[in-house]
Amino acid sequence: VSDPAGKSTAATAAVLVSAEGASYTVHIGHGIVDGAGELIRDACGGGRRCALVTDSNVGPAHAGRLVRALGAAGVEPVVLTVPAGEGSKSFGCLERLCGDMAAAGLDRKSFVVGLGGGVVGDLSGFAAAVYLRGVPHAQVPTSLLAQVDSSVGGKTGINIPAGKNLVGAFHQPAVVVADTALLETLPPRAFREGMAECIKHGIIRDAPLVDEAAQMARDDLPGLVARNIAIKARVVAEDPFERSGIRALLNFGHTVGHAIEQAAGYGRFLHGEAIAIGMAAALRLSVTKAALPEDHERRALEALEAFDLPIRLPDDIPEEPLLEALARDKKFESGSIRFVLTSALGSAFVSDQISRDDILDAIRAIRGKQGNGIL
Ligand SMILES: NC(=O)c1ccc[n+]([C@@H]2O[C@H](COP(=O)([O-])OP(=O)(O)OC[C@H]3O[C@@H](n4cnc5c(N)ncnc54)[C@H](O)[C@@H]3O)[C@@H](O)[C@H]2O)c1
Ligand SMILES: [Zn+2]
Repeated sequence: VSDPAGKSTAATAAVLVSAEGASYTVHIGHGIVDGAGELIRDACGGGRRCALVTDSNVGPAHAGRLVRALGAAGVEPVVLTVPAGEGSKSFGCLERLCGDMAAAGLDRKSFVVGLGGGVVGDLSGFAAAVYLRGVPHAQVPTSLLAQVDSSVGGKTGINIPAGKNLVGAFHQPAVVVADTALLETLPPRAFREGMAECIKHGIIRDAPLVDEAAQMARDDLPGLVARNIAIKARVVAEDPFERSGIRALLNFGHTVGHAIEQAAGYGRFLHGEAIAIGMAAALRLSVTKAALPEDHERRALEALEAFDLPIRLPDDIPEEPLLEALARDKKFESGSIRFVLTSALGSAFVSDQISRDDILDAIRAIRGKQGNGIL
């Protein structure tokens, strides 16, 4: 993985991601989508037909630009729009997409472009993985979460009633175009939840990022996105199929965070908000179990608070459902759970020394009213 411009403020940066013996480029910049037609066409094998998959929020705002950009490169896209929201990561939507692609006559030389947040990225990527046993996929992520996290790494998939992301495939994108100008229409709350993942990246791999994230979000969004993609790319390159345990470090804050999402009922917290509270719990456990200095914990919490992200567990979320969700999510093997901790900002490791009671202590320690009164 090279990171030629991870910290630059230049309009365009590129991060090379290596995975599964192949590699692809993530292009980052402000306003780059308008000139990205050729780039996408060439990375996807040079075909002249593609499906442009988007959702009902993003399509009206941005699909026209991408259709024009592809058209300028001689590519004729068929635009397929799914309803916005997690519900579209379903077999029903997948089936409709594949049917529409077949009806449009897309063949083995065709490719799929996903224009949207993580939902569109995961769904369109899975469609590309299975349509005609696999066609190239280009990601044009439009949410901050998708730009810094879900568009890189090749995980694609859908949800089934038994659980989220239970059906899917590894299908690395052929190219990713992360245009920060597309974020201008993103609701502020969605932007802030993406920042939770950025701060997570800092906690596990890049301590200065924890302190610099707020200023970069204001002054140098392309630089911030590039720096985060470089972190995700490094982790993915070290563990492309999530086997060695390194990729598991990206789950920092997610064990308790997922349990909060479930216990609070999906919809109350955005994913990134639940993860922010989950990181507060993981930081507390890191202080008590991994000798994380308290000023490191404070720096990370301040970084989250700078984006109005919650760092306290509201009193009206009882312990029982939380613990049940934890037990469902992760098996406590002989009383302990694999849990991501940090001993110093910028590094993380998986501990198998954390018990149910330890987690309970941490959850109790972060209870209370949010200082800034939100949520
Ligand atoms: N594949 C991976 O590695 C990976 C990693 C993390 C998350 N995910 C998945 O990503 C999904 C969450 O991603 P998300 O937070 O982007 O959700 P999302 O795709 O639902 O987007 C959030 C909301 O913002 C809207 N939106 C997106 N971009 C916009 C823009 N530029 N302007 C206006 N509105 C815009 C969407 O329509 C949606 O309503 C989940 O399904 C999760 O499982 C995947
Ligand atoms: Zn997450």
